[in-house]
Amino acid sequence: KKILILNGPNLNLLGMRQPEVYGSTTLAEIEDQCRAHAKQLGVEVECKQSNHEGELIDWIHETRQSRTAIVLNAGAYTHTSIAIMDAIASVERPVIELHLSNIHQREEFRHTSYISKVAKGMICGLGAHGYTLAMDAALRILEEED
Ligand code: DQA
Repeated sequence: KKILILNGPNLNLLGMRQPEVYGSTTLAEIEDQCRAHAKQLGVEVECKQSNHEGELIDWIHETRQSRTAIVLNAGAYTHTSIAIMDAIASVERPVIELHLSNIHQREEFRHTSYISKVAKGMICGLGAHGYTLAMDAALRILEEED
């Protein structure tokens, strides 16, 4: 069993980028938290970030026919990317959609998510803590597959 933590565009700048919206925790700190949490859960974890839509799609494809669940913060691609939505549908692996901010309290264009149409569930508005919550959910889903 494995959990892939996938972060999309601009999330490499976490901590520095609009901290009033996204918090002051850096991506490196979040990834450290995820690795520590994975150790506690006894599950394998891999953390990746890309600013490129195609690279995120390639990484999603790699989970095909594996026992991997994905925690995905697709950043702004959430609201635009039919290609990422299709990639998720194609691999038939569970995805937990994640957002640090509560996208429903923000601009209208952030209220729609292509990822939600294919994700198992979604966590938003809980900041960096959302990642470990999403990992708990992901592991539960993987265990149910057995
Ligand atoms: C985000 C919300 C998106 O609307 C935004 O484009 C991001 C981050 C979040 O984590 O709150 O880049 O996914």
